[in-house]
Amino acid sequence: MSDILKEYEWRYATKKFDASKKISDSDMFVLKEAMRMAPSSYGMQPYEMIIVENDKVRQELCEKAGMNQPQIKDASHLIVFANNTKIDEAYLTDYIDSISKVRNISKEDLKGRHQLISSAVTQQSEDWIKNWAKNQAYIGLGNLLATASRMQIDACPMEGFSTEKFDEILGLANKNLSTAVLATLGYRDHADAAKDQKKVRKSKEEFFNYIS
Ligand SMILES: Cc1cc2nc3c(=O)[nH]c(=O)nc-3n(C[C@H](O)[C@H](O)[C@H](O)COP(=O)(O)O)c2cc1C
Repeated sequence: MSDILKEYEWRYATKKFDASKKISDSDMFVLKEAMRMAPSSYGMQPYEMIIVENDKVRQELCEKAGMNQPQIKDASHLIVFANNTKIDEAYLTDYIDSISKVRNISKEDLKGRHQLISSAVTQQSEDWIKNWAKNQAYIGLGNLLATASRMQIDACPMEGFSTEKFDEILGLANKNLSTAVLATLGYRDHADAAKDQKKVRKSKEEFFNYIS
């Protein structure tokens, strides 16, 4: 089996982390860059990362907003993927400005792209924009999980939480952010029974369809 596939086989959604083990700053640097460098639709990155470092806040999130899932308080790091909630003309103008600066292209030459994104994204309904932004956050999550497994760092992606309560405890509404999905990162506890479970996946025949 290729090394990459062995790494994906090694990865599992960790249920019980060893609370005494912490990810080093240099490994966190790589994991954070893996999230920041993820691709996104039109390159707009309509989400931000929140790294919750305060133990009391993590305890509160676990008990009041996270269905008491122990990973939220025990993992080395709790990462919140928060989608932007105000993706309007001003947001798009800021984005176009940064393309202009980084690539040294005049705003005049970026007019076509500005108009395209405006009609494809910012002029869509609020619900459409929310779904689109959350979808982009999941690409960041995928990059993080794949990178962590390559580094032999454990992770659990998590949707089992209350968005309203997470947003309230983290004070996200006044930053125009809302919790999309979580990742907990760290090192598996030797007593985590989930680490020995066989993977349940669709067979190749069920999963892959070919149109020849
Ligand atoms: C978006 C997403 C949300 C998930 N939410 C949770 C969760 O809240 N709690 C949990 O223990 N596992 C959660 N999982 C883990 C899945 O249950 C797990 O990935 C799946 O059963 C496959 O098992 P494996 O990842 O160990 O191979 C989530 C996975 C994904 C991708």
